[in-house]
Amino acid sequence: MKVFSGNSNPALASAICQYLSAKMGKATVEQFPDGEKFIRVEDDVRGTDCFVVQSTCNPVDENLMELLIFLDCLRRASARRITAVVPYFGYARQDRKDEGRVPITAKLVANLMTTAGADRVLGVDLHAHQLQGFFDIPVDHLTGELVLSEYFGNKNIKDLTVVSPDVGNIKTASLYVSSLGADLAIVHKKRLSGDTVEAAELIGDVKGRNILMVDDIIATAGTVCSAAQMVRDRGAKRIFVGATHGVFAGQALERLSKAPIDEIVVTDTIPLSDEAKALGRITVLSCAAMIGEAIHRIHKNESVSSLFRKKKKFD
Ligand code: R5P
Repeated sequence: MKVFSGNSNPALASAICQYLSAKMGKATVEQFPDGEKFIRVEDDVRGTDCFVVQSTCNPVDENLMELLIFLDCLRRASARRITAVVPYFGYARQDRKDEGRVPITAKLVANLMTTAGADRVLGVDLHAHQLQGFFDIPVDHLTGELVLSEYFGNKNIKDLTVVSPDVGNIKTASLYVSSLGADLAIVHKKRLSGDTVEAAELIGDVKGRNILMVDDIIATAGTVCSAAQMVRDRGAKRIFVGATHGVFAGQALERLSKAPIDEIVVTDTIPLSDEAKALGRITVLSCAAMIGEAIHRIHKNESVSSLFRKKKKFD
């Protein structure tokens, strides 16, 4: 087995290697003067089970292209099996044609990965479960809920209500409700533009409750900030936010700095920028053990879904 890392998230890749007690595969990634990327795998990978860790986060196109070149490179070097380990899958949110003349980029990216040489994909919270069906190769779909629930469970927050800031996220929020033994409330949001949303309705009671708001992605933070303001206006006490992917784009940090949120917890599927660190209210949990354990099981042909059925799965 060999684990390689692209340039998007080397810290997570090396933490995964540490979990696996594996040495990181050697590769040279360079850029030609005209901006094109060049990758050479330095290890012999003929007949090897290869894993490439690369989040397709900002700069999205550059990181995506690097992943595709990596896959191509490994296939041409006669790797036995290649798994694209994509902790954050960019372009996932454009997953349907809900108006005329728009693309479905999630499907396009799935096609590109397969064409480039991926035999399998290992992802974390791919935005929607049905994205697995965009691939005609096996997809193992992990969830940051395993890591985030454990963190919030250890906080023993009393009178806890889990809030889904978006109707589309209820299934994920229900997972937290079960693992934390909390109540559920739902905010119905209206998206006014790409970076502006409005919390329109609240279903459930939040008065006098402590809140854990959960989402898969914080991008411009419009969703969680408007929902946080709504629950605070309706009498919520402390407000925590847990999300798998901290994209923090556009006005996100400015919005979060003004929002009535006590703590924002994300995972390391995307590296945290210095500006985000400076906000001081963001806690980052690592997915390395969860992803490392999934890689180990894929390599050994063991069940990955059983990761979700056991407690303390990767201690
Ligand atoms: C929406 O379907 C997602 O679950 C997130 O709520 C959304 O992508 C977050 O975007 P933003 O932070 O820009 O509001």
